[in-house]
Amino acid sequence: MTSLEVLFTPAEFAKLPERDLSDTWCVVFDVLRATSTMVTALGNGAAAILPVQGISEALAARRSEPTVLLAGERNGLRIGPELAEGISFDLGNSPREFVAPVVSGKRIVMTTTNGTRALFACRHAQTTLAGSFLNLAATAQSILQARPARLVIICSGTFEQTAYEDVLGAGALCDLLWDPHTRADIDDSAHLAHELFLEARGDLTRALNRSRNARRLLSQPDLRDDVAFCLHRDVHSLVACLEKDGWIRRQQRDAATKV
Ligand code: MLT
Repeated sequence: MTSLEVLFTPAEFAKLPERDLSDTWCVVFDVLRATSTMVTALGNGAAAILPVQGISEALAARRSEPTVLLAGERNGLRIGPELAEGISFDLGNSPREFVAPVVSGKRIVMTTTNGTRALFACRHAQTTLAGSFLNLAATAQSILQARPARLVIICSGTFEQTAYEDVLGAGALCDLLWDPHTRADIDDSAHLAHELFLEARGDLTRALNRSRNARRLLSQPDLRDDVAFCLHRDVHSLVACLEKDGWIRRQQRDAATKV
């Protein structure tokens, strides 16, 4: 790897389409909750997930493929008929909804406030992965095996702001990739994310509970358990890869091997 960089804000990832990413791998973190939810869906047998930016694109995808499940949130809540031309989405953005009996074998079209936007911004990268604590080791291992020339870790954020939990996820990935002898050009942004993770890792729950997104979810009885759920590490030994047709599919890796 020749360079490692972390993007903290939506303003930064919005500029990715202007960059040449042909030799770059991107890893997108939306810990609370979009990428955690995608990883859970794939881990529970979903065939593929199409991240789209807008509700209208999701509805268009359903019209051309009526068997897809529609998933997503606005303001954290499942998209209801008032926002979607009278259609209720099948699922929200809580990973705990994406259980095997619901998603196994299904193709899912998903739109969320930040996570699907961040993934869209990376679509020209050599490879784009959806990262989370739930599949951290498998994601790191895939990067270490492929040794991409450049790595950009994207924190999806909340609306236009940085999200603390995404920075912790980015820092945790840096921690698995860190090689003190590397000749890579490690951006200050990667040092920052890594240092923050090292400081917080003794009690990640406590650190995460300070974040705006966690506080929002914890204040809602139906969603509060999502916070602890999304902090579990390496529940799924899978790499979630955004393929050239725009769908995210799982690539199996053996995360049991020490990274
Ligand atoms: C997002 O994509 O902005 C988040 O995942 C939002 C959420 O889960 O509430």
